[in-house]
Amino acid sequence: ARVDKSGYKHFMAKEIFEQPTVLADALRAYLSPEGIHLGADAGLAGVQRITMVACGTAFYACLTAKYWFERLARVPVEVDIASEFRYREPPIPEGTLAIFVSQSGETADTLAALRYCKGRAASILSVVNVAESSIARESDVALPIHAGAEIGVASTKAFTCQLNVLYLLALETARLRGEIDAEGISERLDALRSLPGLFNATLERDDRIADAALALSEARDVLFLGRGLMYPLALEGALKLKEISYIHAEAYASGELKHGPIALIDKTVPVVVMAPRDGLFDKTVSNMQEVIARGGQVLLITDAEGAREADGETWRTIVLPDVPEDLAPMLYALPAQLLAYHAAVAKGTDVDQPRNLAKSVTVE
Ligand code: G6P
Repeated sequence: ARVDKSGYKHFMAKEIFEQPTVLADALRAYLSPEGIHLGADAGLAGVQRITMVACGTAFYACLTAKYWFERLARVPVEVDIASEFRYREPPIPEGTLAIFVSQSGETADTLAALRYCKGRAASILSVVNVAESSIARESDVALPIHAGAEIGVASTKAFTCQLNVLYLLALETARLRGEIDAEGISERLDALRSLPGLFNATLERDDRIADAALALSEARDVLFLGRGLMYPLALEGALKLKEISYIHAEAYASGELKHGPIALIDKTVPVVVMAPRDGLFDKTVSNMQEVIARGGQVLLITDAEGAREADGETWRTIVLPDVPEDLAPMLYALPAQLLAYHAAVAKGTDVDQPRNLAKSVTVE
């Protein structure tokens, strides 16, 4: 079916703003009042270790999922970019579940990594948007993310929908291993069901985010910082900004700041800090103060409590709704996408077709 921009100026904007509806639909596809329905035996029961492989934005979805699988299901997880994975010739021990994440399902390196694992002892699970793709076909089980056609080269709704399926997989693995009881699962599923509403509330902050993006668009370099679950998201935020606005952006785990990147800080380098008020927040605030003490301009993306605690110290603060800690990467993805989008619009770049990039990379 032909897809149009539904009144938006760019596909990317349409795809960002349809995330509340798309996520609600994706949830309906996998949830019933009784719980999670993957629709297939994904091979989670006897799993001893997980290897996740992907490229680009899908790789950052995998990095996020590592925290979920390890924390909730207590399974060791290794994550690698597809173009490195098979050249390392990694051993694949028995009991390995290999998970491949790809929006298109056609990325050459990811497909090659899948074939590497297939010849060995792993079960092959893929998380794809295009259900009839090569990666889906060659997997033991392929779980669709139900994001609908994604046209903008910079991935947005596919990212949040990949996270959704990976989170459900982590919960289901935790349940099968007896790491979470029925109540723990149902609490988390209720939280997930409330996420589309929180997406809407976050998208209402668009004007404020656009305003910050306009200021960012004048920078030559931007740093993104996050800890824990927010670290992969910082990487994704930096990637989005690079891809479409051509502003140089780097992301670091906040705790690494002092091991190098702090040398870059001066008043010309804005620092985007993604930090809901969680168990690591105090540490993040102290990293933020190190930036501010060196004249750095901090754009803090946080919740009401976080904003209160960081009071007055930041250059700008964007306040998001409260969200359960597990789900913060999904919610905080939205302002990361909007920052990149508005910065690109301000710079007048070709948002949906950025230079040198392709939606799907079918050569190695
Ligand atoms: C390209 C796209 C990225 C995407 C990556 C992986 O580089 O520009 O947006 O994240 O490929 O694509 P895949 O289809 O495998 O998710």
